[in-house]
Amino acid sequence: MSKQDLDRRLVLEMVRVTEAAAIAVAPHIGRGDEKAADAAAVEAMRRTLGDLPIDGTVVIGEGERDEAPMLFIGEKVGSGGVAVDIALDPLEGTTICAKAMQNSLAVIAIAEAGGLLNAPDVYMDKIAVGGDLPDGVIDLDNSPADNVAAVAAATGKAVEDIMVCVLDRPRHAALIKDLRNVGCGICLIGDGDIAGVIATTEAATGIDIYMGSGGAPEGVLAAAALRCIGGQIQGRLLFRNDDERSRAAKWGIEDLNRKYSLTDMVSKNVIFSATGVTDGSMLQGVHHTKDGISTDTLVMRSETRTVRRIKTLHGHGE
Ligand code: FBP
Repeated sequence: MSKQDLDRRLVLEMVRVTEAAAIAVAPHIGRGDEKAADAAAVEAMRRTLGDLPIDGTVVIGEGERDEAPMLFIGEKVGSGGVAVDIALDPLEGTTICAKAMQNSLAVIAIAEAGGLLNAPDVYMDKIAVGGDLPDGVIDLDNSPADNVAAVAAATGKAVEDIMVCVLDRPRHAALIKDLRNVGCGICLIGDGDIAGVIATTEAATGIDIYMGSGGAPEGVLAAAALRCIGGQIQGRLLFRNDDERSRAAKWGIEDLNRKYSLTDMVSKNVIFSATGVTDGSMLQGVHHTKDGISTDTLVMRSETRTVRRIKTLHGHGE
């Protein structure tokens, strides 16, 4: 099988992996138990990954070996084949899922080996926009006001018509104050910044820019999505203490202040798949119907920029 055939085949396999995780989580939606929901997703994702014809290494996973029993960083998955790096978040938005709120997802990205940044599980300051904007229109080192003004100028909108998505956290008080002074809109989300970043790529969401800090692993997954669908993202790791700084050293990160571009985070071809767990701005969640279980997946391949929406009915069988 040629590499291209394999990539194409893997696209559908990726859909199966995130579908399986989302379906496994469904009984836990709105049950208030984040741990049980996450465990169900992890178990299902690991099981389906085991069948794939890959020699996969988890580079972004559930945590370090001593803290995560499954899908830990460095774990080998797959039944053997092409060497790939894997970034995964079997349940992105555990709290959203436990509360049956919008936008929890099952997410995976698979890149050629060495293609994904081995980001430690620390915070990352991020800024992102969707496609069709001039390169460099946003810059993490510019003020929120300057970034909003630049995107407004590039899109031909008034600053007041720009909508910025920000995680609703006390640590973002200064950022939110700056944006209020600018006069743009702020879409505050409770959780789920991968969906927040991807929302910038879809006009229908009304979101133009994503700003603020969230998990670094989620930053790499969001970068993988943008590499496929188009868009720009920059990130900088944020360290709160020496323990986090030493974790970075373990990952081989020397410049703790480095600003990562999209291609620094995802340097090779990548396949990205996300299945909705709960209903959201871009994907429907898992629903049980009389005919079976329905899922909604966004699956994309950077090499060809193919973007597929796959709605699947998992029937009861004969
Ligand atoms: P989990 O699925 O691990 O709960 O992550 C949800 C999330 O909102 C991410 O999307 C985001 O990157 C991160 O948490 C932000 O972290 P915090 O909740 O500590 O602000």
